[in-house]
Amino acid sequence: MSEHLLSVKDLRTSFTTDNGEVHAVNGVSFNLDRGKVLGIVGESGSGKSVTAYSIMQILADNGRIAGGSVEYNGEDITKWNSRQMSGFRGKCCSIIFQDPMTSLNPVFTIGNQLEEAIRLHTNKTRAEAKARAIEMLTLVGVNEPAKRVKQYPYELSGGMRQRVMIAMALACEPDILIADEPTTALDVTIQAQILELMQDLQKKLGMAIIMVTHDLGVIATMCDEIIVMYGGRVCERGTADEIFYNPRHEYTKGLLRSIPSVERMKERLVPIAGNPINLLNMPAGCAFCARCDRAMKVCLDHVPVERQVGADHRAACWLNDLALKDEAEQRAAAGESAGAIQAATGWVKNQSGEWVFDPVAEEGGAEQ
Ligand SMILES: Nc1ncnc2c1ncn2[C@@H]1O[C@H](COP(=O)(O)OP(=O)(O)OP(=O)(O)O)[C@@H](O)[C@H]1O
Ligand code: SF4
Ligand SMILES: [Mg+2]
Repeated sequence: MSEHLLSVKDLRTSFTTDNGEVHAVNGVSFNLDRGKVLGIVGESGSGKSVTAYSIMQILADNGRIAGGSVEYNGEDITKWNSRQMSGFRGKCCSIIFQDPMTSLNPVFTIGNQLEEAIRLHTNKTRAEAKARAIEMLTLVGVNEPAKRVKQYPYELSGGMRQRVMIAMALACEPDILIADEPTTALDVTIQAQILELMQDLQKKLGMAIIMVTHDLGVIATMCDEIIVMYGGRVCERGTADEIFYNPRHEYTKGLLRSIPSVERMKERLVPIAGNPINLLNMPAGCAFCARCDRAMKVCLDHVPVERQVGADHRAACWLNDLALKDEAEQRAAAGESAGAIQAATGWVKNQSGEWVFDPVAEEGGAEQ
């Protein structure tokens, strides 16, 4: 058995448009283990959904995976054919979309659609699928399931429809559930109920979950790990505690200032100034450079390298490398070569013997 259930490595996804190539995902890497919950967070347009759709290979016609790999149980599924992929979808990995109304077919009953999804991926008979549909609706807390199966999507509330979508996604007991903003279209109380339900189901069924959201506050309590995305790249990754209380990327700090919290009830929320980057024309250096108050010259020209900044915490911001001068000195005292020190810390001695910050940047930045 492979080490990770899902391993996304240096994933690059782009779209061909009349204006040129849109680089939506630019070297994203992460691992997901069995039974764990991973949160993907970022502003609108940061590449969260495209990352999710790349895993499922449900990109729009103008999109393509331009590089990298997606390993499921150690096999690179980007090499799989369409038959293998349709087996993967539903059975191994399911997705719940933001708006259940657009995902459910308005002309078929809830029961029809659930049974269809079940029969597509199993060899259950019609009667067995019907029983399973009712069982699934009960599991996700839909009241009077035997009556609901005969109803059409428009007859259900938004919260109920989202529960139906979750039932549909879980009907084949996938190893991985991707929830792409599953609660954005719902009001706050229902939002909390749906998240609670997902947490509950996760414990009961033991699947791994990828929670995609632009709202860091909403998912924090349920994630084992959070990755923060900007410009189709991972800025920072770590436990919820590390991301919340010890952010090490200027973009994450901006995101945190822009979300309401109980502790900051009286403080004004500060949205991140400036516009998201133009993915048609990715900057040479840090994607966040044009909006970052602390940007330095190096940020303009070099993509920041992702570094370990704590036990369960990595970030790709040159400010972290600046803090590595002490480490550079220690490595030099231990006799390490100048090249190795420069690669590890970004610091190197110039001809006059002074330490200068001159990092060796790699295109893509992320190293896992
Ligand atoms: N079919 C497409 N053609 C061209 N560009 C696309 C296409 N689909 C997505 N994109 C672009 O890819 C970028 C990332 O989109 P994505 O949907 O992943 O954002 P997101 O992080 O999920 O944002 P949101 O929070 O709004 O859902 C966006 O700039 C988007 O315009
Ligand atoms: S690398 Fe530079 S521009 Fe990017 S977030 Fe850090 S300081 Fe700001
Ligand atoms: Mg999205």
